[in-house]
Amino acid sequence: MSNEDSIQEVVRFYGDAEEATRLRAGWFQLEQARTQELILRHLPPTPATIVDAGGGAGAYACWLAARGYHVHLIDPVPKHVEQARAASAGQPEHPLASAEVGDARRLPHGDASADAVLLLGPLYHLVEREDRLACLREAHRVLRPGGLAWGAGISRFASLFDSLSSGFFSDPAFAPILARDLEDGQHRNPTGNPLYFTDAFFHRPGELSRDFLAAGFQVVEVTAIEGPGWLARDFDLLWNDPAHRERLLAAVRKVEREPSVLGASSHIMAIGRK
Ligand SMILES: C[S@@+](CC[C@H](N)C(=O)[O-])C[C@H]1O[C@@H](n2cnc3c(N)ncnc32)[C@H](O)[C@@H]1O
Repeated sequence: MSNEDSIQEVVRFYGDAEEATRLRAGWFQLEQARTQELILRHLPPTPATIVDAGGGAGAYACWLAARGYHVHLIDPVPKHVEQARAASAGQPEHPLASAEVGDARRLPHGDASADAVLLLGPLYHLVEREDRLACLREAHRVLRPGGLAWGAGISRFASLFDSLSSGFFSDPAFAPILARDLEDGQHRNPTGNPLYFTDAFFHRPGELSRDFLAAGFQVVEVTAIEGPGWLARDFDLLWNDPAHRERLLAAVRKVEREPSVLGASSHIMAIGRK
């Protein structure tokens, strides 16, 4: 599939998916809370410039702008960029610095112009390693020396855990998808069922850090985002009880770098320093 075709597939997939509200439901709330925690753990204080490449509908970009950061969002899906602009207009005291259609492999920003870069999407949507490295090299280029990049990957084993816990493991249409995920991490979904996602690459934790190193970064940490927490039975009951929510977050934090459970997380975060 050519570069143009792969972007068209991303645009087609998100035409039907509702990215603007995804993080408000079920275990995606854990993904959001932990992603925010892992960003704040290392982010420099304001004023600082952040590039959110693959920023979707602006969930993290607008949250960071509201905290006083100067945030540029790019995303190849025009619908997402429109949604991000609308969200930005809804916080007129703290708007985004910009929101434009673009590709993380070719950032429009100048060399050493950013303090932080978020790649929370492109590294799993791009199925070729050279394209993922192109994103990371671009992030490296636009960062000032000492600047940080956050890159999210989907775990090689996420679809195995998801299918078992969500009940679609026995779907014969899903079996070949899972077999290939486990074989080489190349996720393909010819079924048309959006539950089974779109073309993607699923990383082993070590592959994510290897890519950061290959692009010239020092690896600060490689961490589970949700850990095993996304697999909790009755997730909403846990999450909606403040005490249980804190215990869940504490347990996830406790095992966030445990090598033997890293791959059980739906997403893995690598953080690299230029
Ligand atoms: C699941 S969404 C995540 C959005 C947001 N960053 C978050 O973490 O909630 C993945 C995003 O990656 C974007 N994406 C896919 N390929 C990309 C590329 N080559 N460059 C930049 N963004 C890309 C998609 O358009 C989509 O908005």
